[in-house]
Amino acid sequence: MSVACIVVAAGRGERLGEERPKAFVEVGGRPLVWHALQAAARSARVSYVVVVAPGGFEGDPALSGADAVVPGGATRQHSVANGLAALPPETGVVLIHDAARCLAPPSLFDDVAAEVLAGYDAVIPGLAVVDTLKVVDGAGRVTATPDRSQLRAVQTPQGFARAVIDRAHAAAVERGDTDAPDDASLVERLGLPVHVVAGHADAFKVTRPQDLLLASTVLARRAA
Ligand code: CTP
Ligand code: MG
Repeated sequence: MSVACIVVAAGRGERLGEERPKAFVEVGGRPLVWHALQAAARSARVSYVVVVAPGGFEGDPALSGADAVVPGGATRQHSVANGLAALPPETGVVLIHDAARCLAPPSLFDDVAAEVLAGYDAVIPGLAVVDTLKVVDGAGRVTATPDRSQLRAVQTPQGFARAVIDRAHAAAVERGDTDAPDDASLVERLGLPVHVVAGHADAFKVTRPQDLLLASTVLARRAA
């Protein structure tokens, strides 16, 4: 069955605070999206890669390794929907990946795809949570301390049977949801099971300026 990957790169990167869109900020001399694209393309399982790009960047040379480039939407959910609409008809498995998780290794794409190919409809990588998390009300008062052993910090690539993720996004549109936290949550809303596999430390998301420091250190370590 044919595996495609959608790399969503159309966000502004408000929290990073750079002038250009986050996916085009450079680490190790290359844009974040270039690194993400490389990793997807180097996965033995992935045979087609669609990049969802911010306006004006569709023709950027950093995207030359993609099989298709489509414009982004107002929210991440809309950007993913644009990517889904651009998949070749023979696609049976879809991996959806944040360009901001630019150093997720090819092996993580392989692992997630393998679990979908083995029969799971929705597969997401997750790591144990290191911080103690609190549920807080509007007044700043703690209302609960969830048991950390039951929590996972989830990453991308998230993998899906194509029919399932298409249905999950269509149902979100029907409900009027526009900005889902992630793609797996839309599958959860269908009442279908989502399977968690081991995530990878290098699949952290570049969100704030200090994350760029970590990314360049990881790259330097790989090159050594
Ligand atoms: N994304 C997208 N289209 C959007 C919003 C986000 O393709 N309209 C992508 C981002 O490019 C990123 C991924 O979704 O690769 C995860 O989103 P996030 O880390 O929140 O990136 P931004 O939305 O760009 O950052 P911020 O929320 O700080 O503005
Ligand atoms: Mg965002």
